[in-house]
Amino acid sequence: MSKKPLILGIESSCDETAASVITENEQGTPIILSNIISSQVDIHKQFGGVVPELAARTHIEKIDWIVQKAINDCGRKIQEIDAVASTAGPGLIVCLSVGLSFGKALAVSLNKPFIGVNHLEGHALSPKLNSELNYPYLFLLISGGHTQFLNVQGLGKYKRLGTTIDDALGEAFDKTAKLLGIEFPGGPQIEVMAKKGDPNKYDLPKPIFNKGGCNLSFAGLKTAILRITKNIKTEQEKFDLAASFQKTVVEILYKKTKIAFSEFEKQNKLKEKTFVVAGGVAANKKIRSMLTNLCNEENYQSMFPPLELCGDNAAMIALVGLEKFKLKQFDNLDHPAKPRWPLDKNAVFLKGAGVKL
Ligand code: KG4
Ligand code: ZN
Repeated sequence: MSKKPLILGIESSCDETAASVITENEQGTPIILSNIISSQVDIHKQFGGVVPELAARTHIEKIDWIVQKAINDCGRKIQEIDAVASTAGPGLIVCLSVGLSFGKALAVSLNKPFIGVNHLEGHALSPKLNSELNYPYLFLLISGGHTQFLNVQGLGKYKRLGTTIDDALGEAFDKTAKLLGIEFPGGPQIEVMAKKGDPNKYDLPKPIFNKGGCNLSFAGLKTAILRITKNIKTEQEKFDLAASFQKTVVEILYKKTKIAFSEFEKQNKLKEKTFVVAGGVAANKKIRSMLTNLCNEENYQSMFPPLELCGDNAAMIALVGLEKFKLKQFDNLDHPAKPRWPLDKNAVFLKGAGVKL
């Protein structure tokens, strides 16, 4: 039996401090040996969003024992680790620097390779942590900071098919929640409230629904919700608005995913097509079930990471580290923290006023 690589992953790009140790079995299936996540939600709640300086301080306070716990819990000795992989971007630079510097220092002290990981690539590969996944596949990333359709052709090989031109979907959920008086991050709470509401009560806009290919836009929704919340008086009206918002999002994603399917098929002639959905919003059950049904209709295999791996975690960072380790793709110790690091480096920047679709 050959010795399988043991990889430590470290994540600190936003408000989760996380560390994980993974390996793989003889068949090459990843095995999570430990997965420690410490969320800072309680710290940022009072400010209605993530405060970068506070997040970085908290990472600094926690990183030693989080990594220590991941190593203790994995059942192996620290000297057995074959490589250290840290998120190097995209994210808040003050936060990224904490996990990145820690990972580099640990790699040097163990005399093992260091690997800088793109956080978005971690989300893209995350379903591999519990199922077999072959390239190429279509990937929808729906998180707090990103909303994109990508044609994933291989490790490090991405072609963006569509992106949000303004807010990310998670951001739209969180802003709607804030307008309804829910504490940050309100996305999961919107789902709970929506269950008690009438999804047909409010007619909300669907920006760029009929143009822009599979590009998306959510900023207009927030403006409409702001207007409606000014006249809301009862709890039931709040539930109705949450349900109407969620229904509108589901309709937008349905239409845009269908377009992404046809664009993906133009670029890949495949008998078996796979659609991967990841990022925090992939935990939303209404979105999950609509996309699963759409995949059944359109003959795609749908894949979602398990709920606990939809949001930010270090197992997905260790997984990218594992794949890169096997290809001997190591990084130098001067690898920078990259606040902006698109998966498709050739994709045109599509954000802000005056965007041409
Ligand atoms: O991937 P993630 O953990 O962090 C980023 O990389 O951004 O995503 C966090 C986002 C937040 O905006 C949160 O409100 C949203 O995912 N989210 C949800 C649900 N669970 C998390 N949005 C809608 N429904 C959910 N159940
Ligand atoms: Zn993320």
